[in-house]
Amino acid sequence: MKALVLAGGTGSRLRPFSHSMPKQLIPIANKPVLAHCLESLAAVGVHDVGVIVGDRGDEIQASAGDGSAYGLRLTYLRQDRPRGLAHCVRIARPFLGNDDFVMYLGDNMLVGGIGSLAEEFHRTRPAAQVTVTKVTDPREYGVAEVDADGRVTALVEKPLHPRSDLAVIGVYFFTPEIHSAVRRIAPSPRGELEITDAIALLVAEGRPVNAGRFEGYWKDTGRIEDVLDCNRELLSAITTRVDGFVDAASELIGEVVIEPGARVTRSRIVGPVMIAAGSVIDDSRLGPYTTVGRNCQLRGAGVEQSIVLDSVAVTQVRGIYGSVLGRGARVRNAPADGLRRRLVLGDDTEVEIAA
Ligand code: DAU
Repeated sequence: MKALVLAGGTGSRLRPFSHSMPKQLIPIANKPVLAHCLESLAAVGVHDVGVIVGDRGDEIQASAGDGSAYGLRLTYLRQDRPRGLAHCVRIARPFLGNDDFVMYLGDNMLVGGIGSLAEEFHRTRPAAQVTVTKVTDPREYGVAEVDADGRVTALVEKPLHPRSDLAVIGVYFFTPEIHSAVRRIAPSPRGELEITDAIALLVAEGRPVNAGRFEGYWKDTGRIEDVLDCNRELLSAITTRVDGFVDAASELIGEVVIEPGARVTRSRIVGPVMIAAGSVIDDSRLGPYTTVGRNCQLRGAGVEQSIVLDSVAVTQVRGIYGSVLGRGARVRNAPADGLRRRLVLGDDTEVEIAA
């Protein structure tokens, strides 16, 4: 079985981060979402992976490389603009040939992997198998109606009035039957070729389409709140590994990962926390549920429930909570000057300040 990973798109809901990096590279537990996805594919024995990329393809390629780090062989397939999930299948046809394949949305996180879903597909081998999970508000997803035998009876993309609470999530298994379906659909009202419509066509033609239930933790990491939530979920499963330097004046509580080359001095770290290589944490309080990327400088900082990307500096600012600090961000204390505050904020940034 081959795989098709979708790592194009715009990421408009993830601004401002998606202004400067593809959304599939946002780190969760200090690793890009895309890396988690590639690890899941390698774990089910896939070897050949096509990766759909858009105008951010170079950054995706710089991150995932040729795939050998994951035991995979990656082939990059360029999409001129985001024309929809079914369009991705269309342009991947020469790569996919007549093989069965798993399509994995590069911004989805399925914690615990896709082993049982892949096993179910291999055992039953319907024309297509979607993955569903119960959600409280299905309106922003593809929604499936499923009968008692697990057979999909109807499928609608982002319905205003959902007829079920089963959202279709980002892992699909296909036989080559999908190729004729993606050729026969027209763009949806949002102007995209929807994979949901192609699968619904198979259903309408009486072809077997099954729903595999995913019972684990799943997130579409399309929004910052979801990214933070997912980070907390992954951090809750880490175990302590201290390969960096920690001085005697520091205290580590709970599960803490400190990579080689990171330095922690005069600080209190309350796990779960991960600190990546090259970062310096001095006179600070970190955690819980916080990740610090590479080469950061946190001095006199207080950061909890947050994601700090690479090369961030926080100087003498405490109380940072539920935050995401983008690459190279600088947060520092400045002497009070009446009620004036100096802010240099990029497009679409968000700041909360106590009045
Ligand atoms: O997350 C699950 C949902 O994903 C499903 O419930 C929906 O049925 C499905 O249509 C999809 O909806 P989204 O609107 O969330 O899809 P999004 O535009 O975020 O794209 C998903 C991934 O595919 C993302 O990594 C970007 C990539 N992509 C997207 C499009 C439209 C491409 O590579 N090319 C594209 O043309």
